[in-house]
Amino acid sequence: MKSRRIVILTGAGISKESGLDTFRDADGLWARLRIEDVATPEAFARDPARVQDFYNHRRANLLSTAVAPNAAHLALARLEAEWPGEVLLVTQNIDDLHERAGSGKLIHMHGELLKARCLACGGVNAWRAPMTDVSLCPSCGAEGTLRVHVVWFGEMPLEMDRIYEALGACDLFVSIGTSGNVYPAAGFVAEARGNGLAHTVELNLESSEGHSLFDEHHYGPATVEVPAFVERILSRGW
Ligand code: APR
Repeated sequence: MKSRRIVILTGAGISKESGLDTFRDADGLWARLRIEDVATPEAFARDPARVQDFYNHRRANLLSTAVAPNAAHLALARLEAEWPGEVLLVTQNIDDLHERAGSGKLIHMHGELLKARCLACGGVNAWRAPMTDVSLCPSCGAEGTLRVHVVWFGEMPLEMDRIYEALGACDLFVSIGTSGNVYPAAGFVAEARGNGLAHTVELNLESSEGHSLFDEHHYGPATVEVPAFVERILSRGW
């Protein structure tokens, strides 16, 4: 029997118990900041220092010793290591907690907080320091040409062809810690269902916008629901 293929989508909810903010919860980032002020190309053109500051704070918080992968991140790394077939992890998150937990087959469709992109040469490099208007591009040496390598609203998410190819062939699609508010990620469950094969599962703290599209739901904290789900998949499938 061919090894069955799994696609997993994660959102901010999987990193909440690691101490990182979500976006649309009552205490989330968009409860105290406007997307139009900090997460669009227009915001960056209008007030680059404010946008750089927003991501500098999030980068410093991510790099603080208080933030580490949690049991949900670790369970997904275990699934990749122990499942006999393909496992592709697509994350909307820009943190590096999946990598730090050991996940390797990973796509950051909204980019990465710990990378910088140069507007002069297009180079993308690791970046862990505060980013300012005098930061130098590691690729071309230009000054003041860096932006965070994150996909802003109005921009195209990354590696969409590869993601749709995987959705078109998967036998299991699992959505974890996402409210299902933002496309194209919110449409992935419909893509998976459309391949005629996929069993679809939602693991979240509460039902998402797209909950009715899922075959199976488990609601509770990711550090409880994800390890339990991975244990079940590895021991008796779905
Ligand atoms: N365990 C599991 N799920 C949780 C937990 C937890 N401990 N805490 C919160 N959640 C759930 C919330 O119930 C919510 O459904 O995580 C979800 C987070 O939703 P959002 O804050 O909307 O985050 P996300 O879905 O990742 O947002 C998608 O929107 O703002 C953009 O680019 C940003 O990538 C982000 C995208």
